[in-house]
Amino acid sequence: MSNNGRPAVLFVCLGNICRSPLAEAAFRREARKAGLDIEIDSAGTGDWHVGSLPDERSQAVAMEAGVDISDQRARQLTQDDYRRFTHIFAMDAQNLADIKDRAPADATASIALLMDVVPGREGASIADPYHGGEENFADTWEDATAAAKALVGKLSGRTVSE
Ligand code: 4NP
Repeated sequence: MSNNGRPAVLFVCLGNICRSPLAEAAFRREARKAGLDIEIDSAGTGDWHVGSLPDERSQAVAMEAGVDISDQRARQLTQDDYRRFTHIFAMDAQNLADIKDRAPADATASIALLMDVVPGREGASIADPYHGGEENFADTWEDATAAAKALVGKLSGRTVSE
């Protein structure tokens, strides 16, 4: 494992402005609550929004939950990410396939669908809310929070029932 055994978790979506910023924010909050020392970041497979703030609708849904994500800036997934992070989580099946396709031969990260960590939601996608409405962003936040709680349980060796 890289990072001297310290987990390092990267959330990846397509644009890094809607879903993965919320997954990052929800997990940061749950990890902090649990007192876990984990490196956390997010990225996109695409480069269209590099340097941009999260989508305003993502910022709004996070803010409603008391989390300010305006310090996040979109970046594209790099080859180094596959070695630097111990876990890379994808939002949907196409996203997972794209991430795996680009993996360098010496990748060390485990690569999986994010909802696979949530008991009963294995194989589920976090749908892209970009062309949707506020309710789609609320669903994304809910999924991101469920995944964050389950992942904290997994990485701290506890099982969570939510
Ligand atoms: P995300 O959503 O992958 O959740 O950040 C998207 C944002 C932008 C685009 C697609 C998805 N886009 O095509 O620009």
